[in-house]
Amino acid sequence: MAAQLRRAVIGDEPILRALRLQALAEAPEAFGSTYERELARTTLDWQRWMAPGVTFILNAPGGAGGLVAGQHDAADPAVVHLMALWVHPELRGSGAADELVAAVLAWAWVEGASTVRLEVMQANGRARRLYERAGFRVTDRAPERDHGGRVEVSMECLVSAAG
Ligand SMILES: CC(C)(COP(=O)(O)OP(=O)(O)OC[C@H]1O[C@@H](n2cnc3c(N)ncnc32)[C@H](O)[C@@H]1OP(=O)(O)O)[C@@H](O)C(=O)NCCC(=O)NCCS
Repeated sequence: MAAQLRRAVIGDEPILRALRLQALAEAPEAFGSTYERELARTTLDWQRWMAPGVTFILNAPGGAGGLVAGQHDAADPAVVHLMALWVHPELRGSGAADELVAAVLAWAWVEGASTVRLEVMQANGRARRLYERAGFRVTDRAPERDHGGRVEVSMECLVSAAG
């Protein structure tokens, strides 16, 4: 059985927490957050990932194997932020990551947004290549932030009905 996506719902907080901690433990260099910060999140924090934001979970034969989150920009209703993308190493190269990204793009469209924005570590060539394949391009919009020597770049994708 191939991996399938589903939208996280109330009750999924422990699964989100476990996935996010797994992501931070496995690929700490890919994220601006830290394992300790995610560990400290409350049930309410995880619920905010599901509403007003959205989180998609990758269901694989061995259990939950990936996630991605989308959040509305606090100031601009035309912008949605894509965050926290992670796919279990055993599921990489399977197309699952493309499906997770496409799910956020489709959600952004339904929500009336015109742009999906994300931050990715400049050195994360694999993620950058994936995002480029999905239609994202590096912009100079956001000032590059520095996470202890790791520099982020901002990427954007215009959303459309075609996805
Ligand atoms: C980023 C991630 C979700 C991508 O999923 P994936 O299944 O590995 O991606 P894919 O294999 O479908 O695509 C990656 C692309 O990068 C290429 N690639 C692989 N390693 C690479 C590298 N070191 N540098 C540049 N490109 C690389 C692949 O060839 C592929 O490109 P192609 O389709 O043109 O051949 C996954 O690797 C992951 O979870 N990484 C750790 C967490 C992370 O980095 N999250 C992103 C935070 S912004």
